[in-house]
Amino acid sequence: METLLKSKENVQTIWRCPSNIAIVKYWGKKGRQIPCNTSLSMTLSNSYTQVAVELSEKKSEEQIQLSYFFDDKLNPSFGNRVQQFLKENQSFFPFSKDKAITIRSFNSFPHSAGIASSASSFGAISLALLDLTYSLNGNTLTEEFYQKASNLARLGSGSASRSLFPGYALWGENSFVANSSDEYAIKVEEIHPVFQEMQDAIIIVEDAPKKVSSSVGHQLMENHPFAEARFQQANANVLQLLDILKRGDMDAFIHICESEALTLHAMMMTSSDYYLLMKPQTIAVIEKIIAYRKESKIPLCFTLDAGPNVHLLYPKSFEKQVKNFIENDLAESYKQVIYDEIGEGPKKHTI
Ligand code: PMV
Repeated sequence: METLLKSKENVQTIWRCPSNIAIVKYWGKKGRQIPCNTSLSMTLSNSYTQVAVELSEKKSEEQIQLSYFFDDKLNPSFGNRVQQFLKENQSFFPFSKDKAITIRSFNSFPHSAGIASSASSFGAISLALLDLTYSLNGNTLTEEFYQKASNLARLGSGSASRSLFPGYALWGENSFVANSSDEYAIKVEEIHPVFQEMQDAIIIVEDAPKKVSSSVGHQLMENHPFAEARFQQANANVLQLLDILKRGDMDAFIHICESEALTLHAMMMTSSDYYLLMKPQTIAVIEKIIAYRKESKIPLCFTLDAGPNVHLLYPKSFEKQVKNFIENDLAESYKQVIYDEIGEGPKKHTI
């Protein structure tokens, strides 16, 4: 190991990992980041985190010696979360016992955009650290590497487990889906061409940090009156969606996608400590999307993450019309639009 660490290419690695948008939502967890239901997401392309991880001689007695930079500045708040994550999962990167770790991270999307960066960040950090473990042991990056990295990413942020795969990914054990697991996500293989070129225009209606974190939201599902029904519904929706993605049934996709978005927010509104993350502009945008779909017959639809911003999904063939719709009909409702699309998954950079 010592010899390998002396050679520059083995002590640094750079990875990019995209964000993802869930179509069937993960909301509610148990034990060590085990989801209460199966979820299914689309991996994005332009919204990603890039991390460079470098190892150097450890100079302190700390269990983990980490310097975490975000946009070239030391960032103690996220750095502390990453440090905790590294401590809890040290067995994945044994080199951390005698090496100091420096992580330099940046996001391709603006900080104020209200896009959750934990999926792309934990995805990229997990890939980079595991890559170092593999290369120090002389192992190559096989399919098993991505499975293990997805498992590790999940321990940092559940939704991060799904960001490691191109196209569509599924996370959470489902007895009807071969190879599905609570511990890592898997790639969804059979996708009709119409769903292979989906676009996601992220309509930023508000960019302030959200009032209630996702971890509090997950906790509130623990004694939620509708929890069991919700988990069953999500598992059934995943099975239907797998079939829809295979057959290319756009109308059925739209129905599940929008219903899932509203159900996620309904869970927030009906938990014991109820709260609302949608804003008046969120509703305005949603209503305009539905009205425009009816009038134009263009198959566009909305989904929401745990926040007020709207993800507008549509096939690439309607790009022009949808852009016109956003710029004309939605102009008064948003601060910014980020045009993204289905992506190819993470990438390692050659140094
Ligand atoms: O990964 P977490 O713990 O931040 O949870 C995120 C959950 C949602 O983004 C709201 C839904 C999902 O499945 O991505």
